Amino acid sequence: MNKAAITGIGGYVPDHVLSNKDLEKIVDTTDEWIISRTGIKERRILNDSKKATSYLAIKAAKNLIKKKKLNPESIDLVIVATITPDLPVAATAPYVASQIGAKNAFAYDLQAACSGFLYGMSSAVSYINSGRYKKVLLIGADKMSSIVDYKDRATCVIFGDGGGAVLFEKSKNNFGWEDEFFRSNGEERMALKIKAGGSLFPTSSESYNNGWHNIYQDGKTVFKYAVSEMSYVTEQIFKRNNLNNENVNFLVPHQANKRIIDATIKRINLSEEKVLMNISKYGNTTAATIPLLLHDYESKFKLGDSLVFSAFGGGFTWGSSYLTWAY
Ligand code: UT7
Repeated sequence: MNKAAITGIGGYVPDHVLSNKDLEKIVDTTDEWIISRTGIKERRILNDSKKATSYLAIKAAKNLIKKKKLNPESIDLVIVATITPDLPVAATAPYVASQIGAKNAFAYDLQAACSGFLYGMSSAVSYINSGRYKKVLLIGADKMSSIVDYKDRATCVIFGDGGGAVLFEKSKNNFGWEDEFFRSNGEERMALKIKAGGSLFPTSSESYNNGWHNIYQDGKTVFKYAVSEMSYVTEQIFKRNNLNNENVNFLVPHQANKRIIDATIKRINLSEEKVLMNISKYGNTTAATIPLLLHDYESKFKLGDSLVFSAFGGGFTWGSSYLTWAY
């Protein structure tokens, strides 16, 4: 049976650049602190209050459709991985599907924070492998600026806005999805969250006054888990697929913090030039980091290349996967 494979990529980031120097004027921080602690120099912001995550998702999807000369009516399913849906209820994906002309598709959102795109790849692959659907469009998009408190220096320096899209179809060769190793741990959900607006803490004047609608993270706890768990699952994928520095072409890691990525590559003994990075220019775009990496580096991939993905995010959610490039 032919494997499920990525057969197209699209991406989009807004034009507006928010640099570390700009942030120095807003909060008590420095360009030097942000670069040395995170690797981020600037991030993109969707600076238009009338435009939401769907705008980023639609732009990324249309970019893919144009590049691949894809008939949107042939898409069977649209999944949008996001933690910043346009509306709390009424999923973003059906709107995106309508706007891109995917009128024969069904569509839904997937929420697994920074692991959303990685988990979404597993869903897309399973649908394709089941034989029920032929074309699954997976989008990772987040307007993080809509949930960031620009008075909180611990979060506002990290996040940016963006969107990326990939198409999954059955491979025309022997390459495609090879393996995955995913985990989660809800015990630590309070370490990275938006506290209010859900059923545990419905919106109230208290929630509003306390800023519980913005993203909060206990950076140290998240960092500690991310370093040990992201490197562990990536190591498992390496071990059980006999992967090593010689036969892996690219590591595609979620872009949360360059130090987390450095710890992962140390554990799996991978040389730095094999690691795809764009954190310095986009920051952490949550569900969009991995498809944006694929978009930025697409021209480097060759048929049969080995790509290993890994991510860690709120929930906690994390995992690693392995695919061989099919075009
Ligand atoms: O993508 C989803 C998963 N998210 C992540 O993986 C993020 C994981 N966490 C991190 O990346 C890091 O914890 C941060 C980048 C958020 C923070 O880096 P850190 O090295 O863990 O810093 P820290 O929280 O231990 O803070 C060290 C110091 C503190 O000051 P004191 O208490 O030592 O005086 C902070 O108040 O740095 C201070 N600090 C800052 N200083 C300048 C915190 N944020 C800033 C800032 N500028 N923006």
